[in-house]
Amino acid sequence: MARLNDNYLKLKAGYLFPEISRRVSEFTTANPDAKVIRLGIGDVTRPLVPAVLKAFHEGVDDMAKGESFHGYGPEQGYSWLIDTIIDKAYKPLGVELKTSEMFISDGSKCDCANILDIFDLSNKVAIGDPVYPVYNDTNVMVGRTGEADEKGYYENIVYMPYTAENNFAPAFPEEKVDIIYLCFPNNPTGTVATKEQLKAWVDYALSNDAVIFFDAAYEAFITEPGIPHSIYEIEGARECAIEFRSFSKTAGFTGVRCGLTVVPEELMATTKNGEKVALNKLWNRRQSTKFNGVSYPVQKAAQAVYSEEGWAQVKEVIDYYMENARIIREGLTAAGIDCYGGVNAPYIWLKTPEGMSSWDFFDKLLNECFVVGTPGSGFGPSGEGYFRLSAFGDRENVETAVARIREKWGK
Ligand code: MLT
Repeated sequence: MARLNDNYLKLKAGYLFPEISRRVSEFTTANPDAKVIRLGIGDVTRPLVPAVLKAFHEGVDDMAKGESFHGYGPEQGYSWLIDTIIDKAYKPLGVELKTSEMFISDGSKCDCANILDIFDLSNKVAIGDPVYPVYNDTNVMVGRTGEADEKGYYENIVYMPYTAENNFAPAFPEEKVDIIYLCFPNNPTGTVATKEQLKAWVDYALSNDAVIFFDAAYEAFITEPGIPHSIYEIEGARECAIEFRSFSKTAGFTGVRCGLTVVPEELMATTKNGEKVALNKLWNRRQSTKFNGVSYPVQKAAQAVYSEEGWAQVKEVIDYYMENARIIREGLTAAGIDCYGGVNAPYIWLKTPEGMSSWDFFDKLLNECFVVGTPGSGFGPSGEGYFRLSAFGDRENVETAVARIREKWGK
């Protein structure tokens, strides 16, 4: 009989979001008349904008004609898309990138996981706590960790607590680490890092020969000036950071699938003999072998995000979600609930009222307000006593959810 990958058995029973869905469907089966409002998983609800749809349709029509049909594309993505992104999304930040440094993919979740392919298992990894579960679980899956302890911390991962007490700005790891995951604007806490804070991380990585995995999936939701959108706005980041971006939340592509990874040419890692090798080459090799690129119509649609018309339409949708975030943040604050995030990110991270545990609050909210959120403890032990609400809902639903919560907590 074939041997399985034992590392999978170290994982907690279910991925967080399917577990929430399971509980919600149990509830809706038992309470078919309850009008449940879902502010749990950060999934978009607004349709694709017209300029994107038009390009998407044109891409499909091209596939119908011999002269414009596209078979396999470059595994790295079409250069016309990459160059558009460099021009429209990075140049305005003062960041120069080469076409060969950007890789288009089917989403940043996959890239954050797949990137581990090009790093040795001996690397020590530091992740946030709470954290986007993919960073933790994929390290368990590849065998970098031991078992989890009773709190849920895996042996051989360094956890960096993000809590209200440290203002969601964790201290540097006490022990030497080789890879540091940073996500700003942060999922799940919705908080951001200033330029000075990111500079400190870059300096730390450079002086410790560490690589930063910078997840910028939510950068389009930054509303305050001066907050970095890319790690490459920081001097020295080209020598120490890989950046992941996503069209999922920015342009409503959760069901379309498109993301990107930047691996600058200067970024090196060493072989077992101490020889330095460019990670760009390795990632290129990995993608060429294991990936066949994103479909042509999807890349056409992604390019349209950056047309003048497309960006204006996309921005309107982002503003709509950020208005939802304001409604949630201010409504909950008025109900006496401590809230974080929601200003530069589509997530509101709240302290559970009356000291409830995250899952108790989840059950109470579902059973008494018919509102679904995400228990903070699902993102890591330091998330216990916190709860995440997503701003990606419909306006009417968001207003109803906030009204129900305010009614419940009496304000
Ligand atoms: C979330 O809710 O944290 C995200 O939707 C998950 C994801 O982007 O994969």
